[in-house]
Amino acid sequence: MAADKNLIETSQRFKPAATRRDFLGLAATWSAIVAFVMAMLGALRLPMPSVFPESNSRVKLGKPARFAVGSSTYFSKLRLWLFRDEAGFKAISSVCTHLGCVAERDEEGHFLCPCHGSRFDEVGDVISGPAPKSLVWVDLTLSPEGWIVADTLSDVDREVVLKA
Ligand code: FES
Repeated sequence: MAADKNLIETSQRFKPAATRRDFLGLAATWSAIVAFVMAMLGALRLPMPSVFPESNSRVKLGKPARFAVGSSTYFSKLRLWLFRDEAGFKAISSVCTHLGCVAERDEEGHFLCPCHGSRFDEVGDVISGPAPKSLVWVDLTLSPEGWIVADTLSDVDREVVLKA
């Protein structure tokens, strides 16, 4: 009689049907496994930058003849002002040194940041904060083909002029 009872308990035929609790337990386990795997995949991607700044920091602005002496040209995508005078070319970034908003240039050549009200003079020095430092002058070079190239990640002293 005891042998019959063991036979019934181990037989698949008499195995109780899965309950709702079993199903929810399985679903929770698989959800945790999937979430863990996705988090690990995300963590593996972290050391790889999704943007390579060096690859697009050097941008052609145009040939020198395109810009008249005394002109000031704004490149909105680069947030950059290019100036040409008798000495040559200079470029200043209009990105505010406070929190990175784009400062607007008025008719006097001053820069005003719309976000928190920082003001900069015509050479980018701070007139009033909260910006902690001057606007950045951007490095300009002449490519072998004769294009003016701005390196938006490389700043220079404000006296540096590209002669072209
Ligand atoms: S971002 Fe320009 S003043 Fe704050």
